[in-house]
Amino acid sequence: MLERPKRPNDLSAFWMPFTANRQFKQAPRMLVSAKDMHYTTDDGRKLLDGTAGLWCVNAGHCRPKITEAIRHQAGELDYAPAFQMGHPIVFEFASRLVDIAPEGMDHVFFTNSGSESVETALKIALAYHRAKGDGSRTRLIGRERGYHGVNFGGISVGGIVNNRKMFGTLLAGVDHLPHTYLPGKNAFSRGVPEHGVELADELERIVALHDASTIAAVIVEPVAGSAGVILPPKGYLKRLREICDKHGILLIFDEVITGFGRLGTPFAADYFGVVPDIMTTAKGITNGVIPMGAVFVKKEIHDAFMNGPEHMIEFFHGYTYSGNPIACAAGLATLETYREEGLLTRGEELGQHWEDALHSLKGEPHVIDIRNIGLVGAIEMEPIQGQPTKRAFSAFLKGFEKGLLIRTTGDIIALSPPLIITKGQIDEIVDHVREILRSID
Ligand SMILES: Cc1ncc(COP(=O)(O)O)c(C=O)c1O
Repeated sequence: MLERPKRPNDLSAFWMPFTANRQFKQAPRMLVSAKDMHYTTDDGRKLLDGTAGLWCVNAGHCRPKITEAIRHQAGELDYAPAFQMGHPIVFEFASRLVDIAPEGMDHVFFTNSGSESVETALKIALAYHRAKGDGSRTRLIGRERGYHGVNFGGISVGGIVNNRKMFGTLLAGVDHLPHTYLPGKNAFSRGVPEHGVELADELERIVALHDASTIAAVIVEPVAGSAGVILPPKGYLKRLREICDKHGILLIFDEVITGFGRLGTPFAADYFGVVPDIMTTAKGITNGVIPMGAVFVKKEIHDAFMNGPEHMIEFFHGYTYSGNPIACAAGLATLETYREEGLLTRGEELGQHWEDALHSLKGEPHVIDIRNIGLVGAIEMEPIQGQPTKRAFSAFLKGFEKGLLIRTTGDIIALSPPLIITKGQIDEIVDHVREILRSID
């Protein structure tokens, strides 16, 4: 047997993503199992999952149907390439996804993550215009405070400074819409805020600057999640859609968080009644259990690629694991679980209770805004002078200690529980948050 040298700290090898590594390794927080709405820590404590893992475990943890589907598929067809050959389950899964997608989104390209879905969507947009003989449309428009994953395309169109500033000049030819965070006008709005539809008109300004003939696509999160739950003002997404249509610009919705029931509808496109041309998804597609993503496109976009000699590859793009059979099996079982338990619309039933519970935190220490939509919530705290994010980190640590998993970004507590949550558990989350707010500096 290979003798491995002993290491002084056996947590050292794993360079943890998006983590304060040194702080963690001095005081590790370990999750060892999970079931339904709870995690269990290595010291045997239960944590109520207020964040569905990372916005992904929409049906709750370790659901038997999903676990069984994975086990079965791993014993039957563990891996098969999807380049120049196929396997039945990937076609079946694509069809079932199209069944629940917004009208007209008829084709699905599989990836392994939200970041890859974004890269794929941006490439489809560029290649689509070129395939139509409109190859000068190369510019991509994102939005300030947008999060579109961590790959180069995604951070270029994204608008979170810490995710961008270390990585050079990024993609050329990208511009940004202003964000829609207007605390002065919209603080403590319940649901979609009233003010700010005119921010969509900034797209006209960008078009006037660059000319529509140079712009391929606009990409936005319908509800910005990672930047702290920033909602689109009333009418904003419709206005963006109109301006894109007027100028022949593709509209991409990044639904990596909002997809699969988070807002109380299958997709945010359904919630807002605005259908994009391309939609990126991941996370809830397999209940977060196996890495997977999918990009949905309208028929016209797909069909624009289907020309030239029939033996030629139409789109030079794909991943070794695109449509991995085990991920597809997990995805199919996830969709069945969502359907059987009505989870894609459960956020609508619980929305009012969620909203009332969250807004009962108004007036608690540090709270300067509360935002909600579907089963998403944000409690924004006043930052400690000169020490941004410190208060939120204390809140996170306190929650972990007291039995609630929250996510923080900036000085915002973001909540997005599994969609199986009960009203009693919503109250429990809010009671915990109240206690946290009262106990931190
Ligand atoms: C809107 C959005 N796009 C893309 C991503 C990136 O997904 P992943 O971490 O799976 O690459 C995320 C992740 O949170 C997201 O919220």
